[in-house]
Amino acid sequence: MRIVSVMNYKGGVGKTTLAANLAAEIANGGYRVLMIDLDPQANLTFSFYTVDEWTTDIRETRTIKRWFDGEVGSLGELVLTPPRVNEVVKTNAGQLDLISSHLGLIDIDLELAAGLGGTTLAESKRRFLQLHGCLAEALQAPAFRDYDVVLIDCAPNFGLVTKTAIVASDFVLVPAKPDYLSTLGIGYLKGSVDKLVGEYNDYIDHNPRGEPTGPRIRPRFAGVVFTMTQVQSGQPILAQRTPMENLREVGIMPIFDATVRNSPRYFADAGPEGIPAILLGNVNDPVSIELRALTGEFVEAIVGEGSAS
Ligand SMILES: Nc1ncnc2c1ncn2[C@@H]1O[C@H](COP(=O)(O)OP(=O)(O)O)[C@@H](O)[C@H]1O
Ligand SMILES: [Mg+2]
Repeated sequence: MRIVSVMNYKGGVGKTTLAANLAAEIANGGYRVLMIDLDPQANLTFSFYTVDEWTTDIRETRTIKRWFDGEVGSLGELVLTPPRVNEVVKTNAGQLDLISSHLGLIDIDLELAAGLGGTTLAESKRRFLQLHGCLAEALQAPAFRDYDVVLIDCAPNFGLVTKTAIVASDFVLVPAKPDYLSTLGIGYLKGSVDKLVGEYNDYIDHNPRGEPTGPRIRPRFAGVVFTMTQVQSGQPILAQRTPMENLREVGIMPIFDATVRNSPRYFADAGPEGIPAILLGNVNDPVSIELRALTGEFVEAIVGEGSAS
């Protein structure tokens, strides 16, 4: 099993679209994939369920908020199998499951953070590890043993909920728009993740009571995926190529060769169907071709030695 967080501080860069399409394409390749929606905006959830379905069948009982609130015994109880997309992928022996988000997740960051601290250093460290490691620990349960890939769609912030995803992850995937400011943000994002990992592992290593607190963590950057590229004559326009090449040169983290072009047409069709565009679009559409190339590269990155080119 590989656990991958899809994250960027920025909203609207294509995180959710990428998470849904990657997950669908991997499942369609015959694998078992679990998506976890950790964004209070719940766009990933609403890519697979209508608002009516969610309100009637999911909102009260089957969202990740209940788990963070301590109202369900185990995370596995929340797993949903969205019907329409699974009609498609099951023909290829794949399965695509989802743990739903909830708009109320926005409050959870603050509630969790209130649990940090303590009267002694030892107590503070213990709580830090427990809170940040909660999702990692939950995903160790037998309910998750049979998944090949877990994709976590993070909120566009670095709050405590997002941090639980990073701690749980083997890899971090960073969708980004190819513009100057977005690429500047990548260095900052890497610094924040590295700082969290350093702090977590330091607490693991220097545990004053010597209690068993879990293993060290080592989330690696699968890399940056450039989304919404504007393609002319078979390549991104110059205004995008420059920041793309600059980011590659500075070498902060791997950059995927595959990119996803801007195509409102291609992605708009998917919305109400509950099926990601990759499973609906013409296989010869340039966007389909790009998404398949990206999926191949992504799987290679997380299964192989762990880095894109
Ligand atoms: N490659 C693309 N081409 C055109 N529109 C896109 C593309 N990727 C995402 N979108 C659209 O852009 C908006 C933001 O994308 P989304 O995946 O929700 O971003 P994020 O999760 O980073 O906020 C959505 O309306 C989505 O349909
Ligand atoms: Mg999103």
